[in-house]
Amino acid sequence: MTDPVSDWRRLADSHVLLDGFHALKHAVRFGAEVPVAVTADRAAALALADDLAPDVRGTLDALLTEVPETTYASLVPRPHPTAVAALAVRPSREAQLAKLAHTPRTAPVVVLDNPRNLGNAGAVIRLAAGFGATGVVTTGTLDPWHPTVVRGGAGLHFATAVERLAVAELPAGPVFALDPEGDDLRGVELPDDALLAFGSERTGLSTELRARADRLLSLPMRPQVSSYNLATSVAMTLYHWSHGARSAPTP
Ligand SMILES: C[S@@+](CC[C@H](N)C(=O)[O-])C[C@H]1O[C@@H](n2cnc3c(N)ncnc32)[C@H](O)[C@@H]1O
Repeated sequence: MTDPVSDWRRLADSHVLLDGFHALKHAVRFGAEVPVAVTADRAAALALADDLAPDVRGTLDALLTEVPETTYASLVPRPHPTAVAALAVRPSREAQLAKLAHTPRTAPVVVLDNPRNLGNAGAVIRLAAGFGATGVVTTGTLDPWHPTVVRGGAGLHFATAVERLAVAELPAGPVFALDPEGDDLRGVELPDDALLAFGSERTGLSTELRARADRLLSLPMRPQVSSYNLATSVAMTLYHWSHGARSAPTP
């Protein structure tokens, strides 16, 4: 029998940290490969599974090993209230690119152009998972698999495709770029094969992304308000897409 603590120490640098019960639950639901999972309170974790995730209770029962509280705390940067943590295999770049390039696309790809805030990126991945978006692509230096982004995404990286790409490498499809100076989004049906692009929190859309955009669109906003938060902008836009005619033609 292998020792979960040695497994953890061997795998920690190359694997994705699932911090807390909900991250593990989501990752398991969406097919993540989880070689090690620990908890400081197995009975409490399985009671949560009974309440909130009976669909994956059996898998969690098989995965979770109880370790002393001090051991659990030594494995994670900050103990989580649910005292559950696991390591998952990061999907290969090739697998993510194949999902992003797959056609016909049945739901948009969200593009975050040089995002700076790890919490925003996590919130956007959670939104993309909830709306069934094809994926989330980031441009720039932020790693969308950074542990803080994974924490913000509640383990839902495994429910969509998440990858970093240059603007020149974006998947095919019409680019609708969100910008306060664009045309009112409310008059536009967003097609399922759209790339929905959002600018950086500090500087908005880059010149490169603007050059690749087919259309600039704005969210309704009262005069004198400069802009919305990045993640809330993605939420409004995905909600608008979800209301549109699914067969809207590509402009
Ligand atoms: C915090 S805003 C960026 C503000 C930045 N100072 C600028 O100059 O655009 C982040 C991104 O959210 C989107 N966004 C925010 N408010 C928007 C609005 N009213 N209409 C369309 N997009 C908006 C845009 O994609 C924007 O680049």
